[in-house]
Amino acid sequence: MFAHDPHLPHDPLAAVTHAAPHDYYRRLADGPPLRFDAGLDCWVAAGAGVKAVLDHPDCHVRPFGQPVPLHLLGTPCGAIFAELVRMNDGARHAAPKQVLMQLLAGIDLARLHDETARLARDHLPGSAAELNQLMFDVPLYAVAQMLGFAAADRPQIARWTRDFVAAMPVQADQAVVARAQAAAMGLQDTFSALHPGARPALRDNLIGLLVQTCEATAGLLGNEVLALRKDNSEPVLAIHNTRRYAACDLELDGMAIRQGQMILVLLASAGLGFGHGAHRCPGQAVAQTIVAAILSAWSGAIGRLALDWHYRLSPNARIPLFAEGAAA
Ligand code: HEM
Repeated sequence: MFAHDPHLPHDPLAAVTHAAPHDYYRRLADGPPLRFDAGLDCWVAAGAGVKAVLDHPDCHVRPFGQPVPLHLLGTPCGAIFAELVRMNDGARHAAPKQVLMQLLAGIDLARLHDETARLARDHLPGSAAELNQLMFDVPLYAVAQMLGFAAADRPQIARWTRDFVAAMPVQADQAVVARAQAAAMGLQDTFSALHPGARPALRDNLIGLLVQTCEATAGLLGNEVLALRKDNSEPVLAIHNTRRYAACDLELDGMAIRQGQMILVLLASAGLGFGHGAHRCPGQAVAQTIVAAILSAWSGAIGRLALDWHYRLSPNARIPLFAEGAAA
């Protein structure tokens, strides 16, 4: 590792919400592809190591022997979680992933752009607080619309999705987890009513599309807002890292990784904002279309806002939190 520079993040998790982490990621990418970080007590993959880990069949998305986080086990949230392609490997991942890829590849992007721009014009941010809310809601409305939901259902779907996502971290408190259980049941009922023929696994993976949209698309949109206002010249990347877990003892880049050990995969150090390999994001074109449509609809309104900002606390997503501030 390089000597510590006070302007650089102190570790790869701090980099996610650091104002200017690009140089840090570049230095990590120039270093060893895989190294053990004693402070974080896990392996860290950077640069060429990122693809090596994401391509390795024994580097799985969930900790060994724990398909569902313990705090969600036996709950409605846990039942959805257990089905998600994002959270499974092997055959349990490959078959539903194929269905989602086909569904997403069939989306008419020009139509999605027009419909999203219309939605965004109906929801213009007039303050920092509204921007904080709408940068999550409008992309969720757009995906809910894409999945066939009527306008009247979309605000509730967006609220449920945000409640569900809030319960994913193991640190989520009891009240947050309780709200997420109600949200999970609400989402399942609403999806089942709209798509009565869909098997539960497909229904839960359609809910998963909203879950995947939520923070990542808000992050991309928020960072594009900063770029538009020339408030930040760092590369626009919403998701900076992901995690993998050794499913067995394995050797990678000459390093012996033991079963169960975690690898923090620094996507940002390899410029892989939408991932790579089997779990690569199938929603990239949809996400970029939605963000482009919203930005074009909002550019005037955003230019008129007086904004301050910092990044929300997060271990992987770079999402600005706006406050009233100096005019652009
Ligand atoms: C800017 C917005 C987005 C970003 C930056 C993003 C990024 C990512 C990344 C990095 C992964 C891989 C995670 C990993 O390998 O551990 C991923 C997976 C996924 N994303 Fe996205 N995503 C975005 C928006 C969306 C949208 C809008 C959808 C759907 C409508 C979507 C659907 C998915 C799904 C289903 C997966 C899981 C794929 C799998 O595990 O096989 N994403 N996304």
